[in-house]
Amino acid sequence: MTGGDADPDAPARRFFGRRKGRPLRGRRQALLDTLLPRVSVPAGDEPLDPKSLFPMAIDAVWLEIGFGGGEHLAQQAQARPKTGFIGCEPFVNGVASLLGQIEEQRLENVRVHADDAGPLIARLPDGCFDCLAILFPDPWPKRRHWRRRVIGPATLPAYTRILRPGGEFRIATDHAGYLEWILRAATAQPELDWLAESPGDWRARPDSPHDPWPATRYERKSLAGRPHFLTFRRR
Ligand SMILES: C[S@@+](CC[C@H](N)C(=O)[O-])C[C@H]1O[C@@H](n2cnc3c(N)ncnc32)[C@H](O)[C@@H]1O
Repeated sequence: MTGGDADPDAPARRFFGRRKGRPLRGRRQALLDTLLPRVSVPAGDEPLDPKSLFPMAIDAVWLEIGFGGGEHLAQQAQARPKTGFIGCEPFVNGVASLLGQIEEQRLENVRVHADDAGPLIARLPDGCFDCLAILFPDPWPKRRHWRRRVIGPATLPAYTRILRPGGEFRIATDHAGYLEWILRAATAQPELDWLAESPGDWRARPDSPHDPWPATRYERKSLAGRPHFLTFRRR
């Protein structure tokens, strides 16, 4: 890691969360051994065209960073069969959970990067995504840890770069301090417009049959916190 603890605005350059939870056995381990190699984004440093990763012609591509157990990603992929989805998640138990859903629901339109999103994003061309979702990222509440936050001044330019003009950036958080931090950093990006017009637009998850936004596991578990939902559009 570069940058000292004294500088909370220094770029987050690596992943800080957990990579492993309870040991995986049986079906979950088998999915990691057999299905993950088939649906993984190819490793390496070479530039990558996301549309080329899918076996069928697709109309749009979405990226979800930190998909956790993968419920949101799998439900979106099922609802939008002509959209290709790339999910990034370094927590192996979460990856195994998403693989289970890919298998059960026979999802052909999902690709997995079982690692930190940062190096993957560096390989992706400008404007290649129609939507980017980061839902309930770890808030890292202590000031000396702010530089670990996945969304902030250091990472937003890269997220904006990979969105096409008109593309959406969907964010959710239930942490008031992180909400403020995200809003300050995102509204300072000249190429991002926040689409909210009234408080109802950020207090309720904008979920509709023609444009679903399913709840994540974190959201369902966090009944104590007040979730906020932010949608930005790239100019
Ligand atoms: C609080 S959890 C939320 C998970 C899920 N989005 C939900 O709402 O249930 C945050 C997730 O982000 C993942 N994460 C953190 N840093 C990441 C990074 N640099 N790239 C990809 N995922 C990351 C963590 O492993 C963790 O699973």
